[in-house]
Amino acid sequence: MERDNTTTRRFLEDAGIAPGMRVLEIGCGGGEVTEVLARLVGPAGAVAAIDRSEDMLANARDRLSQAGVDNVQLMTLDVTGDLTRLDQFERDSFDALTGRRVLMYLQDPVGALRRLCRWLREGGLVVFEETDLTMVPARKSPLPAHDQLADWLRKMLVAENANTTMGFDLPATFVSAGLSFEGIRAEAVIEGQGGQFAPSQLLRLVQARLISSGLTTEAEVEALAAELDHQSPDPTTVYVNGMSFCAWGTNPSQ
Ligand SMILES: C[S@@+](CC[C@H](N)C(=O)[O-])C[C@H]1O[C@@H](n2cnc3c(N)ncnc32)[C@H](O)[C@@H]1O
Repeated sequence: MERDNTTTRRFLEDAGIAPGMRVLEIGCGGGEVTEVLARLVGPAGAVAAIDRSEDMLANARDRLSQAGVDNVQLMTLDVTGDLTRLDQFERDSFDALTGRRVLMYLQDPVGALRRLCRWLREGGLVVFEETDLTMVPARKSPLPAHDQLADWLRKMLVAENANTTMGFDLPATFVSAGLSFEGIRAEAVIEGQGGQFAPSQLLRLVQARLISSGLTTEAEVEALAAELDHQSPDPTTVYVNGMSFCAWGTNPSQ
C-alpha cells in the first residue's frame, strides 16, 4: 500500500506552512513529514528536523536523498534534554515549529514547547498533529482481528507512558506553554481508505514493542498478522482505526 501523507500535507498547508518559511520540526522520525514540509516551503525555505534516534535519522537521510530534497538539515537531539545545539540558530530563526506524533511521547510537552519556542520568531506558527485513541476503534459491529490489534496498540502506548488523548489535550498544551491557540481539526483514518499502513504492516512495525511490553508473543503476532491479511473487512464496512488531530497557534509577541 502506498504510504499516504495527504492528510498531513493538508493540515500543514491549511495551518499556514507556506513557501519561503524556515521550519523547525521535532521528532521527525523517518522523514515523511520532513519531506512534505521541504516541498511546501520550497527552495526559498528551509527545514531543520530533529530526532533523538540516530537510526530514525539515518532512514530520514535516505528518504530525503532519494527524494532529491536538499533544503533540510537533520540533527540528533533529545528535545527533553540540553538544547544548546540549537544555538547554532539565532533565537528568532524559525517561522514555524511543528511535529507529528511526538508530543504524545513526551512526559512534559508543555515544558518542551516552552523551551523550543525560544527559537521561534514572535508571531511564528506552531502546528502539531497527534494521534488520539479516545474515539477509536469506531465501528458498527466488532471486527475481531482489527479489534485485537487496536487493543494491543492502546495497551502498548499506555505501557510506554504515551498520552493516548494527546489530540484532545493539544489546545490546553499550547495555552499552558504560553502560545496562542487558534484552531484544531481532526480526521478519521478509515481502514482501506489510504491510511499510512495496512493493519498487518502496522502490527509488524510495532511487533518488538508489543513483545517487550509483555502484551503478546511472536507466535501470536504472526497469527494475528495472517488473520488481518485474510480477513479484510467487506469494502462497504466502515472501520475507523485512527483519529489524527491537528492544532495550530502562534508564538505571541512578548
Ligand atoms: C511515532 S514517531 C513519529 C515520526 C514522524 N514524526 C512521523 O510522524 O512520521 C515519534 C518520533 O519522535 C521521536 N522522539 C520521541 N521522543 C523524542 C525526544 N524527546 N526528542 C526527540 N525526538 C523524540 C522518536 O525517536 C520518533 O522518531
